[in-house]
Parts: sequence; C-alpha cells; structure tokens
Amino acid sequence: MAHVNEHYRSLPAGYLFPEIGRRVRAYQQAHPDAKLIRLGIGDVVLPLVPAVIEALHRAVDELATPEGFKGYAPDQGYDFLLDAIQKHDYRTRGVEIAGDEIFVSDGSKQDSGNIQEIFGLDCKVLVSDPVYPVYVDTNVMAGRAGKADAAGRHAGILYLAANEANGFAPDPPAERADVAYLCSPNNPTGSVLDKARLERWVAWARKHDAVLIFDAAYDAYIGDPTLPRSIYEIEGARACAIEMRSFSKRAGFTGLRCAYTVVPRECTGTTAAGERVPLRELWARRMSTKFNGVPYLVQRAAEAVLLPEGRKQADEQVAFYRENARRLGQGLTAAGFRVFGGVHAPYLWVRTAGGLSSWDFFDRLLAEAHVVATPGAGFGPAGEGFFRLSAFNSRENIEEALARIQRVFGRR
Ligand code: MLT
Repeated sequence: MAHVNEHYRSLPAGYLFPEIGRRVRAYQQAHPDAKLIRLGIGDVVLPLVPAVIEALHRAVDELATPEGFKGYAPDQGYDFLLDAIQKHDYRTRGVEIAGDEIFVSDGSKQDSGNIQEIFGLDCKVLVSDPVYPVYVDTNVMAGRAGKADAAGRHAGILYLAANEANGFAPDPPAERADVAYLCSPNNPTGSVLDKARLERWVAWARKHDAVLIFDAAYDAYIGDPTLPRSIYEIEGARACAIEMRSFSKRAGFTGLRCAYTVVPRECTGTTAAGERVPLRELWARRMSTKFNGVPYLVQRAAEAVLLPEGRKQADEQVAFYRENARRLGQGLTAAGFRVFGGVHAPYLWVRTAGGLSSWDFFDRLLAEAHVVATPGAGFGPAGEGFFRLSAFNSRENIEEALARIQRVFGRR
C-alpha cells in the first residue's frame, strides 16, 4: 500500500496563487464581460528585451550545427554565465564569489523550496510573517513543522511579525533558530533590509551558528545604491549565508526560467556527531542528483542580461515597473489608503479599506473594481487586513486599475 506523505496534510488545501486563480476563473465565468486587471501574482508582462532575443536566436543556430550542438549542461552552469555573474552581480559590489560557489538553476522558487533538504529535520526554522509561502510550505512538506493553529501558524516554526512598527523588517529575535529565511526586497511587503539590519542578522546567525537563506530575487528593484544588493556585502556573511538571485523579475524570465544560488565554501552545518560539513558539498550533491541543468540557450539569454547592452535594456524594464509601483503608491495614498513598499520593490503592501479582512477586500475589489489583488492573509496571519498589489502590468492597466479603485473606494 502506498502511504502518502502525511506532512502534506498539514498544509492549507491549495497553494495561494492557484487558489486565487480558481476564484478569479469562477468570477470570470459568471461575469464574462468583466474586464479584469490582474495585479495579483507577480508575473511580468513586457516582452523579452532585444539583447536576450538575439542571444536566444544565436544559441538556437549554434545548436543546429554539429560543432555547436550541446547536450547536458555542466552541473553548476556554463562558465560564460558563471563568469558574467561573478563580474556583474558581485565584483561591481566589491564581493568575490568563486565560480564553483554558484549553482545555476531554473528558478529561485525551486531553490528556496529545495534548500531545506540539506538541513536536518530537527532544525528550527525562522520566517517573518507575512512570508513568501514557499519557505513555510516546503518545510511543512518535509516534516519540519506540524499542523497550523487557528491563526495559521505551523507548530515548530518561529514566526517574526513584520508590521508597521518595525517597518515590515523585523530585527533578529533574542531566541535562537537554525535556519532563517530573509527576503529583501521583500515579497510580499516590499520592505528592504538596510546594511545595519543585515549586519544584525549576520551577527545573530554567527552567534547562534545559524544559516541565513537570503532570497534576493527582487534585488534589481533596489533604487538606492547605498542599500546592499547581496548579503555578502556584509562582513562575515560568507560563513553563514546562502543567497538566491533570479532573472525572472529583472529581465522577464518568469517563463524562460533562470536563477542561481550561491553557497560559499565557508558556510557549514554540523552532523549529529559534531563534525563540520560544508553546505556547498551537500547542495552540489543534491543538484547533481536531482537536476540536469538549465538549457544552453537559456543560459546564453541570461548571460545577455549581464552584458552591457542587455543590462541597459533590462534596467529600462525594471525602471518601467518601478514607475508603475510609484504611480500606484501615489494614487492609492491619495485615495486614503495606507501604502507600504513599492519603492525598492515591485510590490505594494496596502491596508484594506474599512477594516475589511484580506479575503473580503479581495472579493470586493474583484466584484466592484474588477481588479485582482493578493490577499495579505495568504502570506501568513500577520498579513490579515492587508492586500498586495503587483506593479507588473502595462501603464494603461495600472492607470485604469487605479481609477477603478479610486472610483469604488473614493477618498476615505
Ligand atoms: C509572487 O507573486 O509572489 C511571485 O510571482 C511568486 C513567485 O515568484 O513564485
């Protein structure tokens, strides 16, 4: 008899975004004439930039020749992409990362979900609340956490409330944990961790011998050059932090799929017998066993994003989405909403109108403004009373969504 993994039964019935998709489809079926504007899931809308398209075409042509054909990609990624990552993403920030500390993958969602596999089941996991659901759900699936309480907090996970009082960027707690997930710029709140706060997290991790999982999937949205883009800009982070970056939101790769994870040599965990083990070795083992690499043409496309022409074009897309976020923030604030984030991030974190619950507000926004948001409660109990808007849309749709929201909710 095939017994199921009972841990899955501790999860909420559906993952957040498919659940939203289900509700939106049902609404659209019942109201086929409604012209919905989707500001829910953070999915890009602009086409791939010309430098990426050219790189893809060139790579396809190469693959069509006997000399240019490629089979399996190297385990951790092609050298041309590893070099470009080292040079552009790190050396420009004064950080040295070795090529074999970088693992190219098909997405930060997968990497941030899979990384927990290299830690023991007895590890205490820390997340902020609200949180990108992948961090929690994958630990629940693995059996590192129990059932959720009435508020939705899983037993065994340490939740740190991210709220208005702490700028949605909580400091490390007094207590210890073994693995802590940090996301900056933050999904869903759009907050960003500055140098001083990151230094406190690194000091906390060093003190408790903990590992920080630093998800920087939205780093391209940081507009202030004094804010760190990489956790390795913080002294001591190499010994305690794993970092993830993605091409999804910086260059429209949500469909193409390319990201990478950095696991520095100095970053270690311990065995039950107390032996120190480099986490890099475990992640290399995991990846070579379960993953066969990102396609050559996708890696060439990612390389193009890091070369001067592609970088300029991709930066223009990011600037476009940032301007969307700015307009949304300004318009919602003018309509009387309390708005957070949206400055160094493509997400706005907004208090619901009239004290409505997140899901009630979601339903009202859908029914009356035909705008799809993401209910804050879907990201954890501390998200109750908030909703998230994504700036990934056309300028026209952003303006139209804003006009509709202002029409429905007026000035409050
Ligand atoms: C989101 O909307 O939170 C993101 O698109 C989800 C993701 O990147 O997986």
